[in-house]
Amino acid sequence: MRSLFYSVVILFLFSISASAQIDYNSEIQPIFNNSCTSCHGGTSGVTLSSYSATMNSTGSQYGIKIVIAGNADGSPLVDKIEPNPTHGSQMPTNGTLSSDEITKIRQWIAQGANEVATSNEEEELQSPTDYSLLGNYPNPFNPSTTIQLRLKESAEYRVSIYNVNGQRVASMLGRASAGTQQLNVNLAEQPSGIYIYRVRVMQGNKSVFIGSGKMTLVK
Ligand code: HEC
Repeated sequence: MRSLFYSVVILFLFSISASAQIDYNSEIQPIFNNSCTSCHGGTSGVTLSSYSATMNSTGSQYGIKIVIAGNADGSPLVDKIEPNPTHGSQMPTNGTLSSDEITKIRQWIAQGANEVATSNEEEELQSPTDYSLLGNYPNPFNPSTTIQLRLKESAEYRVSIYNVNGQRVASMLGRASAGTQQLNVNLAEQPSGIYIYRVRVMQGNKSVFIGSGKMTLVK
């Protein structure tokens, strides 16, 4: 019964990560409306006034569609909003987008440049041999424990700790180099009980690994 309960919690945690899909109309179009359509709202050339206009726009300088679904790095749209584009100047010409906005546009393209967020997101996770969680020690622990994460190359990571009610009680972000990393977690402020940790590893804006485990705090 207990273990069933915890597997439900773990499923719930995975569904949190699945909600990260970007919705074009509520998250991307407003960025274009604020910063781009004053110049790209016409009927010819790059037009960013709707989903279909954006998807059908071809950059004359790049000679290809500005959005290549699934390939943020190869999309002229992304090249143009980041510093030092291959052609012409960084967009918008009268300022720059915030890094949050750039990240959103990148994620939206990386997730397939859909108009409507699909519910069964499967981020492209790489083979578990590239990244793995090796558990935590000591376990049970009081008040701190070390989560071991193995990486084939340096990457950013985020560790989130949840209690059994699914509330996040701690989180940390960092950059780790290749090899086995020791991520120290201190739950001195929390009551005894079972906690679930979730580790997400990111390369750029893409999640390349998500893993989770269970640990017990005994005070
Ligand atoms: C003030 C006017 C202005 C604004 C605002 C603006 N652009 Fe542009 N954009 C231009 C001009 C002019 C060009 C052509 C010259 C160049 O590429 O530098 C261009 C070119 C582009 C191209 C490449 C077209 C090609 O020929 O390959 C893309 C993609 C683009 N803009 C995207 C955007 C995006 C996305 C935004 C909003 C974040 C934006 N622009 C905001 C004026 C603007």
